Amino acid sequence: MKVEGQDWFYSKTVKEHFMKPKNFLNDLKEVKGFNGYGKTGNMKCGDVMEMWIKVADGRIKGCKWRTFGCASAIASTSILSEMVTEKGGMKIEDALKITGKEIMERLGGLPAVKVHCSVLGDQALREAIKDYEKKQSNKKTKQNK
Ligand code: FES
Repeated sequence: MKVEGQDWFYSKTVKEHFMKPKNFLNDLKEVKGFNGYGKTGNMKCGDVMEMWIKVADGRIKGCKWRTFGCASAIASTSILSEMVTEKGGMKIEDALKITGKEIMERLGGLPAVKVHCSVLGDQALREAIKDYEKKQSNKKTKQNK
């Protein structure tokens, strides 16, 4: 039986991460020493996501983010920040391979109309990794001069 409005149901995990987002940035002091920054926007709704990462030995040791986005964006980025920092930190090359599908699976799904919100964190992470890599290559260039 299909319940009216079922397409809008949030899983228990989504609600938990929305109510208590993990790694949410409250103060820029929290990202002192972080070495990658990414910012992205959602064309559909105009919401913005910012993410900071701390990479050491090729692994993501810290991940902080903030957004004015909706519950789905908050929950999916919260879980993404856990995925990349758990077990000693994910290797950056593996973090680049995380798919929206994997995030959704960990969340227990999202309402179909909210799927576009879940990619915000994912895109901000890619931008932060790009920024980190650019900084590393700039450092190498300076060292070689
Ligand atoms: Fe903007 Fe979800 S509606 S991120």
